[in-house]
Amino acid sequence: MTTTSQPTITGQATNAFDVERIRRDFPILSREVHGKPLVYLDNAATTQKPQCVIDALTTYYSEYNANIHRGVHALSVAATEAYEGARLKIQRFINAGRPEEIVYVRSATEAINLVAQTWGVENIAAGDEIIITGMEHHSNIVPWQMLCAKQGARLRVVPLNDNGELELDEYERMLSPKVKLVAAAHVSNALGTVNPVERLVELAHAQGAVVLLDGAQAVPHAAVDVQAIGCDFYALSSHKVFGPTGVGALYAKYDLLTKMPPYQGGGDMIASVTFENTIYNDVPHKFEAGTPNIADAIGFGAAIDYVTAVGMDAIAAHERDLLEYATEVLSSIPEVRFIGTAKARAAVVSFVIEGVHPHDAGTILDLQGVAVRAGHHCAQPVMLRFKVPATVRASMAFYNTRSEIDALATAVRCVVEKFN
Ligand code: ALA
Repeated sequence: MTTTSQPTITGQATNAFDVERIRRDFPILSREVHGKPLVYLDNAATTQKPQCVIDALTTYYSEYNANIHRGVHALSVAATEAYEGARLKIQRFINAGRPEEIVYVRSATEAINLVAQTWGVENIAAGDEIIITGMEHHSNIVPWQMLCAKQGARLRVVPLNDNGELELDEYERMLSPKVKLVAAAHVSNALGTVNPVERLVELAHAQGAVVLLDGAQAVPHAAVDVQAIGCDFYALSSHKVFGPTGVGALYAKYDLLTKMPPYQGGGDMIASVTFENTIYNDVPHKFEAGTPNIADAIGFGAAIDYVTAVGMDAIAAHERDLLEYATEVLSSIPEVRFIGTAKARAAVVSFVIEGVHPHDAGTILDLQGVAVRAGHHCAQPVMLRFKVPATVRASMAFYNTRSEIDALATAVRCVVEKFN
């Protein structure tokens, strides 16, 4: 029985990074929008899926759909193998020390909420402090606000400089034995800033604080090694890394995870149940109550196979070129002002166009077939920091091309002409 499809990476057929061949693996990229070729530059919102991921889903449903960890029949065994096999792929992808350190969740958001509601409730007390940064997505702000309100703790925020980088001196000053947790984005979804996460971890650990990193926007762009970073928790999401929606993973150091109380009760998270007493299952299953998102977990594994075969270093190099090119061509339009000019940046350009509301700009770009996000990007404090209501954000992936950046620039010039 076939349970996993091999990635069909035509781009691997040559040693060189062949973006046109890679694009053919993504069926959606050949469609048109409003009669124009689709130029998909909204990858920070969600990424497109290669055919092998789509095939992994249909193969599961058409050939071995069954519940996992329960059945003795062949289909259940095959489904369990594929689901647990995907966990191993996630482990290797971020270089976690053991598969038990990978908990399946619905999304990076759910991973952060899991930590807040389990580790957080047990370890954060009145008077303690939690540090976040000024560039966090709402998913790495609100769970900590809720926890602080519940436990009587204080939330502190590392400010940003005008380039959208962390004020590291200020971070160092904030750290003290009162700080129990630092929660930070690895890469900012709104600005593209890549944070110096090893340094953040080193400084936090020196004060005895635990570190959670939101890696949702990091893993699609470059190789991530959680052991080298040294973080305690790392959250990631499948749909940001070319896999299906509805599944993600929490990495947690084994020693921390085994001490955390369960998150939700139900089937699969138990070893035994009587009316008098329940014994919980081992980690990670203790945190995976109920029938999980089996198909999408398997699809997540297929996406990891795909990007691994393309090569994360090749992806990073191609995206670096795209970022430099996008910065160069958009800089030549006087009405464009970048929001976020950090030295270390993933392939994201956020900008405003003089005299044009970003939503109007986004609508006009769409009519040219160019898909970007216009809004606050679920990071309203970033907009406040830069005193803008919203930005236009073009977020790139390894299947984007320089000619698509040209199409973006042409569409932006169209916007400028219309409004000026
Ligand atoms: N977090 C997603 C984004 O940045 C939705 O667009």
